[in-house]
Amino acid sequence: MAAAAQALADGEPVVIPTETVYGLAADAVDAVAVARVFAAKDRPADDPLIVHVSPGLLARTGADDRLAALVALGLVSPALEAACARTALALLEGCWPGPLTVVLPRGPAVPDAVTSGLPAVALRMPEHPVALAVIDAAGRALVAPSANRFGRISPTHADAARAELDGRVRLIVDGGACRVGVESTVVRVHADGSLGLLRPGAITPEQLTGRVGSAVTRVGSEAGRAASPGRTPSHYAPRTPLVVTSTPPSAWSDARIADLRARLSHGRLGWLAGSDALRPSTTLRDALGAPDVVEALLASDGRASTAARHLYATLRSLDEAGPDVIVACVDAQDDGLAEALTDRLTRASHGTRPLPP
Ligand code: TXA
Ligand code: MG
Repeated sequence: MAAAAQALADGEPVVIPTETVYGLAADAVDAVAVARVFAAKDRPADDPLIVHVSPGLLARTGADDRLAALVALGLVSPALEAACARTALALLEGCWPGPLTVVLPRGPAVPDAVTSGLPAVALRMPEHPVALAVIDAAGRALVAPSANRFGRISPTHADAARAELDGRVRLIVDGGACRVGVESTVVRVHADGSLGLLRPGAITPEQLTGRVGSAVTRVGSEAGRAASPGRTPSHYAPRTPLVVTSTPPSAWSDARIADLRARLSHGRLGWLAGSDALRPSTTLRDALGAPDVVEALLASDGRASTAARHLYATLRSLDEAGPDVIVACVDAQDDGLAEALTDRLTRASHGTRPLPP
């Protein structure tokens, strides 16, 4: 903690664990430190960062509530519309700490680089004890984008963060495997208090509606890119081409099998099974010409939350095995994480021609 706090005070980025994915943290109000984060990640300047805070940091302001504390820190604008402030406060008090990022009009302390010049800033209070301890030890708000190089898979354990950023950061704080496994839900609070979902995550639209009483609009991918510039479709991609299906192998058409077979130029197939029932059958293996199959089971219980927790580490290990193509055969039981899981799988498959029906 002391080493992390010192590095952060020196303006040096530090890798920290959170309950979602590992982040590359730096002082959020130090423009030089923020520039180092962009450089270490090879991240383009038009992809804004999330500012992370802790209960301790907010309490030290002496403000009456979490929203007032963010205003006191200069992170959020003091001039919010009443409806916007009401909704924001309900989210901050009801869903923090946790995997929820709230986008609000920015305050004067936030450097331009953090928001890519946008008038709004993204804020999150993680619930990982180590992340909160680092923020408290540093005594400052921290930007923390996922600790991967741009366009790559987010790390969900310290070794993965090291594989991404070795030689580019001074310190990696190891907090074990991440509990959620996919990035936080990102939601924008509009002036009228309504909500726009910019990125699905473990906090569902239903939970948000339950907290604030108003419906959540899913901002489509096109509008989403304008509203949330970092959401390029190619995010979270493995190097290996990836195709996604929910059809069990026993029901695959001849055309589909022939199509996949033609992609196996080196005879090596990666297979990500959402559950036991979605593993490649002997019949399918034979029909594919008995390739060398590198297999991984995402969730032995078939649940979306379990699959989400293991997704990135599993993709990473399949990627490293160097198959010609990875098939993600997933039909997870929705326990709140299905939308986020589908979103990340879709993004991981971006740029690869889908399998025929
Ligand atoms: O779970 C998480 O949120 C992780 C952990 C480390 O906290 N962090 C994370 O950061 O996923 P990153 O940088 O990989 O994703 C941040 C995304 C941006 O790509 C963008 O979509 C959205 O958050 N975002 C950030 N600032 C925004 C803003 N001012 N307006 C709209 N969207 C914003
Ligand atoms: Mg990221």
